[in-house]
Amino acid sequence: MNKKEIETKIKELKQKHNAVILAHNYQRPEVQDIADFLGDSLGLAMKAAETDAKAIVFCGVDFMAESAKILNPDKIVVHPDKKAQCPMAAMVDVESLGWFIEKNPQAEVVAYVNTTADVKAQTDICCTSSNAVKVVKSIKKKDIIFIPDTNLGLYVKRFIHDKNLILWPGICPTHHKITKDEILEIKKQHQDAETIVHPECRPEVIDIADQVFSTQGMINYVSKADSKEFIIGTERELCYRLKKENPDKTFYSLKSAICPNMKKITLEKVLKSMESLEPKIELSETIMQKARLPLQRMMDIGRGD
Ligand code: 13P
Ligand code: SF4
Repeated sequence: MNKKEIETKIKELKQKHNAVILAHNYQRPEVQDIADFLGDSLGLAMKAAETDAKAIVFCGVDFMAESAKILNPDKIVVHPDKKAQCPMAAMVDVESLGWFIEKNPQAEVVAYVNTTADVKAQTDICCTSSNAVKVVKSIKKKDIIFIPDTNLGLYVKRFIHDKNLILWPGICPTHHKITKDEILEIKKQHQDAETIVHPECRPEVIDIADQVFSTQGMINYVSKADSKEFIIGTERELCYRLKKENPDKTFYSLKSAICPNMKKITLEKVLKSMESLEPKIELSETIMQKARLPLQRMMDIGRGD
């Protein structure tokens, strides 16, 4: 089947199953093109919570598809490749978090949404890169365990001076690889370009950025900005959507900024999963019930960018 035929088949199956396709901004271009909604982690969770569709086909990594299921326990949530997993989310598990909580029993636990459902179930509130500062500001307690992204935690600390953030030693391999020198080199060649980076980047990268946003925050900012050129410090596929929505602007991506896990979802896998509505996300009722609370608290706070 060629690309056009696959797309036509996907459209027919969408109708047949009353399905909606949600895709993250880092998905392959051809997957972005067939999505009903594209967004960042927060936008996708909110969209999943409000959809009337019977089935959700989730093109992203594991924790995002799990969040969609937790928010829609009665709907079918299909994840076209279960091996599409976020390595940062795998850097904290229930046992290690339990040990950390025992050591800091006075602390409230904030979980970056990049965590598995069973870990979320042990936490007080979630956040995303869009609203991490807003979420931490909303907490009354002085001590806060922040899991699992150290870089995001260090970014939040820049805005919070009356609380003690206890950080978990996790990182995103894709963002942590981005170096200050790499960005400075591009800046040298394109001196009028604005630099926008994701808060999962190292502190020294954040220091030289003009703006720091979630992926959807970047999309929103660029559409309104006066600048015509941008250096984009996040997974490079975001530039596909940026260029599509802003054809008059130029984007410089970082060669090495690729999340291989996001690329595991292909158009062929989307089609296959829509034919069988498999593989489904399956989670225990107890885990979903416990994990829904921190997710809901986060969504009640809304966007921060
Ligand atoms: P966003 O929520 O900003 O899209 O980030 C998700 C993510 O996994 C970043 O690496
Ligand atoms: Fe996880 Fe990083 Fe990939 Fe985002 S870019 S899904 S944080 S590994």
